[in-house]
Amino acid sequence: MSLAVLVSGTGSILDAMVEAGLPITLVVSDRPCPAMEKAAGHDVEAVVVCRDSFDDDFDRDGYTLRLTDLLEERGVTLVAMAGFGTVLGQPVYDRYAGRILNTHPALLPAYPGWHAVADTLADGATVSGCTVHRATLEVDSGPILAQETVPVLPDDDEASLHERIKVVERRLYVDTIRSILAGEPPVEAVAPEGASA
Ligand code: GAR
Repeated sequence: MSLAVLVSGTGSILDAMVEAGLPITLVVSDRPCPAMEKAAGHDVEAVVVCRDSFDDDFDRDGYTLRLTDLLEERGVTLVAMAGFGTVLGQPVYDRYAGRILNTHPALLPAYPGWHAVADTLADGATVSGCTVHRATLEVDSGPILAQETVPVLPDDDEASLHERIKVVERRLYVDTIRSILAGEPPVEAVAPEGASA
């Protein structure tokens, strides 16, 4: 299998994947970001498929087609989103059905969306965690592959809680991808107690 990682942020999960020896053949981002500098430092091909708009006129399917064409040109067979900031459209799910993974900084189905950590804190939750799942067209709702809880501490702010969650994501996402690459798809997990919003 040939693994592509999609990023938009700091790239700490990408770093963990590279350091774990996952066979990453391509890193793609939707914008210039620190993760792309990290990819370059790891000597992995890194391509910015630049988003031309963040407004209502964004051509989501057109953008998705450009990105999907690149994945196919490079022979990618498995796609891992690691903090990717663009919701992809149907074309990638047509051509990579069941082969797109995502990690999310909350215990889905609780707290989907881009502000999961802030929403967790605002809600006064005492337990959070992370979820590795197969991505589907509907954001943060595909079949869950792995979950692990993380405590929310009384003095947490968004940055401290997110970092505690990311420590777990870096291990859990790597382990889950490794299982899939080894042909041992993880059993779909049942959401732990306390995971509902
Ligand atoms: C991770 O916490 C990941 O779960 C989150 O972005 C972070 C990326 O961290 N993704 C989402 O919130 C997607 N909904 P990184 O840039 O340090 O690897």
